[in-house]
Amino acid sequence: MRRKATSPQHRVFGLGQCSLDALGTIAAYPPPDVKCEFTGLTVQGGGPVATALAALSRWGIACAFAGVVGDDPAGDAIRASLLAEGIDTAGLVMRPGALSQQAFIFAEPARKGRRTIFWQRPTGDPLLPGEVDLEKLRRAHAFHTDGLFIEAALFAADEARKAGIPVVVDAGTLRDGMLDLARRSDCFIASETFGRALAGDDFPGEALKRMAALGPGLVAVTLGAEGYAALLDGRIVRKPAWPARAVDTTGCGDVFHAGFVYGLLNGWEHGRSLDFGAWAAARVSRRLGGRAGIPTLRQVRAAGYR
Ligand SMILES: Nc1ncnc2c1ncn2[C@@H]1O[C@H](COP(=O)(O)OP(=O)(O)OP(=O)(O)O)[C@@H](O)[C@H]1O
Ligand SMILES: [Mg+2]
Repeated sequence: MRRKATSPQHRVFGLGQCSLDALGTIAAYPPPDVKCEFTGLTVQGGGPVATALAALSRWGIACAFAGVVGDDPAGDAIRASLLAEGIDTAGLVMRPGALSQQAFIFAEPARKGRRTIFWQRPTGDPLLPGEVDLEKLRRAHAFHTDGLFIEAALFAADEARKAGIPVVVDAGTLRDGMLDLARRSDCFIASETFGRALAGDDFPGEALKRMAALGPGLVAVTLGAEGYAALLDGRIVRKPAWPARAVDTTGCGDVFHAGFVYGLLNGWEHGRSLDFGAWAAARVSRRLGGRAGIPTLRQVRAAGYR
């Protein structure tokens, strides 16, 4: 007998990092062994997938998150930050006795919002494949992951593909298993760090070609303030960033991916989805932290993205 679905329908199922970020602004990055004053202290939820879901949720997309926290105050704050966005956190697993992912981030507005991140991964066990809610995943319209919990991410990507759900990857770092994840993905959008680790100085062209050879139908690399490059219809397309007075580029990559997923769900051409991601990311750079500057749905529509 088929079990009747009781859980609500989510359009995006995200699996990956969730963090608590403490951020401040500095005039210039210091040499070692000094006292460096910062201003503007803010504490926000962070993490590539978690922040992407926060953006999608603000744009009216129902999202479910899978990841891990510890039973520390940061874990409580992370969960609260996701719940405040209306994200389903039933898949956020708490590891007793462990610490949650946390980051200390210093941004330099004078250097176009360059940011330096010190982060600690969650100290508990990674999310396990058996902890992924398959029923929820299979009923989503897109699966988004950053690959930190690589075993669970590979498993969920396989299951998503079997169910005909597009797999979108935010590839920040070339960790073990990331190329296997690329082989299981439909849309693979990497950072410059990832692209250079993959292809060395022949960047971005060779990085895009190597990524595409693994199978995803859409590959792109983000280039910070230089914009992005993508392989569209067999051609390398390079687009500049949207102009912005950037104070902190934390979260730009996360929200770039959210924009791409938003376009994917709306059936837009990949090029338009990438442009929207870049537009939304530029807005994020204007505020300190990954979530403060996410444009509202009204602003998204006013900018012509509908
Ligand atoms: N200074 C900036 N001004 C305007 N847009 C920017 C700026 N920095 C980044 N962006 C936009 O954000 C996108 C993603 O940025 P970036 O390449 O730095 O992501 P990332 O390396 O994944 O970083 P993170 O994971 O911390 O967000 C870029 O492709 C660009 O469109
Ligand atoms: Mg990133």
